[in-house]
Amino acid sequence: MHGVLKKELETYEKRTPRSREAHTRALNRLPLGVASNYRAYDPYPLFVKEGQGGRIRDIDGNEYIDFNLCFGTLMAGHSHPAVVRAVEQRLKIGTAFGMPHDMEWELAEEICQRYPVDMVRFGSSGTEATMHAVRLARAAVGRDRIIKMEGGYHGLHDAALVSVKPKLEQCGPADEPTPVPGGAGIPAAHVANTLIAQFNDLPGAERLFHKFPGQIAAVIVEPIMMNVGICLPDPGYLQGLRDLTKKHGALLIFDEVKTGAKLAYGGACEYFGIRPDIVCLAKSIGGGFPLSAFGATREVMDQISQHKVFHGGTYNTNPISMAAGLATFREVLTRDAYTHVNRLNTKLVAGYQKTLDKTGLKGCMVSAGANGVLMFRDKPIRNYREWLQVDTELWRHYWFAMVNRGVLAQPHWWDEQWTISVQHTEAEIDRHIAVFEEVAPALARAQKEQFAAAAR
Ligand SMILES: Cc1ncc(COP(=O)(O)O)c(C=O)c1O
Repeated sequence: MHGVLKKELETYEKRTPRSREAHTRALNRLPLGVASNYRAYDPYPLFVKEGQGGRIRDIDGNEYIDFNLCFGTLMAGHSHPAVVRAVEQRLKIGTAFGMPHDMEWELAEEICQRYPVDMVRFGSSGTEATMHAVRLARAAVGRDRIIKMEGGYHGLHDAALVSVKPKLEQCGPADEPTPVPGGAGIPAAHVANTLIAQFNDLPGAERLFHKFPGQIAAVIVEPIMMNVGICLPDPGYLQGLRDLTKKHGALLIFDEVKTGAKLAYGGACEYFGIRPDIVCLAKSIGGGFPLSAFGATREVMDQISQHKVFHGGTYNTNPISMAAGLATFREVLTRDAYTHVNRLNTKLVAGYQKTLDKTGLKGCMVSAGANGVLMFRDKPIRNYREWLQVDTELWRHYWFAMVNRGVLAQPHWWDEQWTISVQHTEAEIDRHIAVFEEVAPALARAQKEQFAAAAR
């Protein structure tokens, strides 16, 4: 470990003794001491006390400008006044019914106006949305196999938890990646039904259609892969997938759990001008409350209408989440909001780039909509295997150095990215840039030493 990273870790531990204590206590009752594996990291995660606008405070009282925003769930920012107002009103008049209500239709209307879908069903998490989307596609097409991209993340169900973060030695040939279960407990039959292609490799996907003729129900893809930093699609790639799926009688599922609310007013469908068959939404559509949705053409949704595919859920369209969702769509995710976050993001990326140029720190900036990332690599990645080459030690140094100076630059882990919220201010972006300027020279020195050691 580089000496400066070691020092940053010592500072982190000095500033956050209560988080350490809380984590040690939690380890006894929660595996890894956390409620989701993604929240665990060494030496221990920050335990949070409260959040407001673009900031959070940990249980030691340290304040951070928050660009983690619950793994990109809060383009609304913390406790957005419009969301809080809507939720407070709902809280007093019943929080759960398990019966239909009018907000279901209202929110479905909002979604159908923004995204190219005719009908919608709701759930509480992104995992649910992609799980039902895959089942729906299988039923609509009458085939079992799907194609997903190596390194793509679509949640935790068996069909999706394949080749999420395989080790390079498990990946197999580049032109025909090996499906690798993402942990124990995933039946081999599920792994066999999830075929793997590399992102941005259209011929690779086509080869799978030829190898498994008449067996592939759908391609599920994140239009911009956002669980490997940010991986943009090559020009024409998404249209290529659209044409390919049509040609082979399969459906195209856009997993817009991350991009749906944060990339543009109408998500990636609008941004790239593509009309997939099924769209999955979650995270930022709920304004901080558990809400997801999947929408599709009327024809595909008829699978549910005609009682062929079963979809249910006690918490579906929970009135609190629906009130939050409606307020989010109508009062937070406005056209103006995208202008605001895009402007702040452009400024933040430019600030980073200026510092990279000034210090000689080698890294590349990638951004899209409300999201951005610094990747320690000479150029942007095109697929998962390229992401495996990012310098993770230097990334840890960057992340802890920023945290120690009050900027949660992005979620912990180098496969994530920052989110700008509608509540972030120009001054908070300036502060983020200034802190990066402060930590970059040490990063540049550490990197130079690393390069020199590697050359020896
Ligand atoms: C692209 C994508 N799809 C699906 C999911 C799963 O969503 P959830 O964690 O709400 O189940 C995530 C979560 O990070 C995601 O990034």
